[in-house]
Amino acid sequence: MRFKNIHFKTISSTQNWAKKHLGEIDPKTITCITADKQTKGRGRFARKWSSPLGGLYATFVFRLPTKTPHLTALGQIFSLTLANILITHKVKGCGVKWPNDIWIKGEKVAGILTELVFEKNTVAVLLGVGVNVNNKKVPKGATSLAKVSEKKWNLDILLRKLQKKWVQSLLLFQKKGFPPFQAPFEELMVLKGQEVTLFDGEKRHKGICHSLASDGSLIVIIDGEKQSFYSVDIQGLLKSPLCR
Ligand code: BTN
Repeated sequence: MRFKNIHFKTISSTQNWAKKHLGEIDPKTITCITADKQTKGRGRFARKWSSPLGGLYATFVFRLPTKTPHLTALGQIFSLTLANILITHKVKGCGVKWPNDIWIKGEKVAGILTELVFEKNTVAVLLGVGVNVNNKKVPKGATSLAKVSEKKWNLDILLRKLQKKWVQSLLLFQKKGFPPFQAPFEELMVLKGQEVTLFDGEKRHKGICHSLASDGSLIVIIDGEKQSFYSVDIQGLLKSPLCR
């Protein structure tokens, strides 16, 4: 699979740019839109994503057949791919917080925003990733790769590695869906076994974070019963010793 790279020095949001220009994006490539900084970076649940110089901000755009199974798990696979790269770079204490945040010892270092735009026979996938890399300042509760590893990172090398590994993950996903990623994701999953509060955008639910299903959904025990969740925000005791 070929990559087409589009880079901006400053942009409002790579995600918004991708949405606006979707019709012009070649369906046969993975287009990667990046920016040195964003003025209106956004995250899940319409939250702001702080995007100063020093971070990695990218939106990967590609198309898949509409009937592709487990589409909602693409963000999980992306975060697992990124977490594995960090682990190979000897970043210690790296884990994934379902669905697709990357945490280092209880602090968030990267977030992923997955948006699907359904077309006639295809679905356009917009995978936005924000990583605090060499950022001088990060929001409360977050950290940066430079801080935890005490070195400056090369953003281009990190991006190229992510692109290379993403192609491998995507090819495997196209062949086999989410199941090959289930065990590796669960292995890195923070908050497993812990009491958590889930927020679905409207309501809060309390339960115990149990496991990950083979379609990527989160299994939580609520009032003694297992329930599956596809799109919620989890809050737990992020500073607990169980949290990598
Ligand atoms: C989250 O954790 O809530 C997801 C954050 C996603 C941020 C990235 S940065 C690149 C892309 N452009 C955006 O405006 N958002 C995503």
